[in-house]
Amino acid sequence: MSQKDGFNSKFGLIAAAVGSAVGLGNIWRFPYMVGTYGGGAFLIVYLILVSIIGTPILMSELVIGRLGRRDAINSFKVMAPEKKWYFSGVFALLSAFLIFGFYCVVAGWTLEYLFQAIGNNFAGKSPDQLGEMFTGFITHPWKPILFSILFLAITTFVVSFGVQKGIEKVSTLLIPLLFVIIIILDIRALTLPTMEGAQGAMAGLSFLFKPDWSLINSESILAAMGHSFFTLSVGAAVLPTYGSYMKADQNIPSTSVQIFIFDLLIAIMAGIAIFPSMFAFGMAPDQGPGLVFIILPNVFASMPGGYIFGVLFFLLLALAALTSTISLLEVVVAYLVDSKDMERKKASLLAAFGVACIAVVASLSNGAWSHITIMDKNIFDFLDFITANYGMTLAVMIEVLFLGWGYSKDKLYNSMTNDGTAATGVFSLYYFLIRFIAPIAIIIIFLHSIGLF
Ligand code: TRP
Repeated sequence: MSQKDGFNSKFGLIAAAVGSAVGLGNIWRFPYMVGTYGGGAFLIVYLILVSIIGTPILMSELVIGRLGRRDAINSFKVMAPEKKWYFSGVFALLSAFLIFGFYCVVAGWTLEYLFQAIGNNFAGKSPDQLGEMFTGFITHPWKPILFSILFLAITTFVVSFGVQKGIEKVSTLLIPLLFVIIIILDIRALTLPTMEGAQGAMAGLSFLFKPDWSLINSESILAAMGHSFFTLSVGAAVLPTYGSYMKADQNIPSTSVQIFIFDLLIAIMAGIAIFPSMFAFGMAPDQGPGLVFIILPNVFASMPGGYIFGVLFFLLLALAALTSTISLLEVVVAYLVDSKDMERKKASLLAAFGVACIAVVASLSNGAWSHITIMDKNIFDFLDFITANYGMTLAVMIEVLFLGWGYSKDKLYNSMTNDGTAATGVFSLYYFLIRFIAPIAIIIIFLHSIGLF
């Protein structure tokens, strides 16, 4: 093998993969889903599904990268020359590119809000004023574009330094930092005094965790399954790319379990930071951007020490987004470097330029260009819809069919168990899950997401 840039330590790969996995999905989507789909009961369903479907897919993606040792498309070509399995990589890479286009817009919002928090601009504003502030910002013709480009520039800067000196260094620093920030926010949330007439912090915990089995139905199960893919960043070329930088003796099953546990921990801890604070101040939980960009600034405006906790929260959000955008840029750069023989710095700039073009359009589609719609959605929502429902799903489907049915079981066994020295006991279970259970689950999610039932 040529001297390929790669992770220097086993933790480096874990930190980078957790960095990709942990993002807005963990901080506002997951806590809200748990709260509304049955609390502790949903958590148990999610744990089962992520163990039997999400984690085996995560393992599969890492192993593909390590077996192919190339970018997300060419690893398939190395493993199965003359075959069409590499289309999985094509869908994954395209998805990464398009996801990046709209993710970068939201990442820009987190940066703007970090500056607003630092400038103490939430204090003294009513909920309506904060609502208007958010709408005013995201519909503004150039401000959100400026912040997305700034975010993209930071991402490009990190990625241009390479895997070891850029991605690994930044991820191993930021992931522990994210935990520290979230622990501080959790302590604050759980020790808040209850405002007159509000239910108090404990009601927030009970919103999050109290099991309600009556809410577990096909809808909540499907939501759990879909989210397990999204939150682990599978289907978007990230894990095969990172897997190609992984050490040959790293234990893939245990690494995957660690990634899943860190991802889950951050999501649960985010919920503990968010809901008790909201209930202490009598605010109703909302979902989506409204929760993070309107309700929480309100909470910070009234909380003792709210200035510092507001800054910390938006710092957390921006850093969580940064480790995800790094992974999204890296997959495109890896492809350009590997397949087109481009120099890394040049590839980073070229990829960033392409993403910037999509981000500008995605950003404008929230304001000036909101009248342009595809399938009744503005461009921003369309990008989200098409990648989540088609691009990533197809990529994952082809990949599990490939490993389960189209590739040598012995070679897969050897790589997954490091030539029979690690985690040999779980291989049969893993193989069964990706051959039968994962494809069926993916088809069900797909049919549901296109509205067939
Ligand atoms: N996992 C990220 C989150 O929870 C979102 C995401 C999905 C993602 N697919 C991705 C991030 C691919 C980077 C790359 O927010």
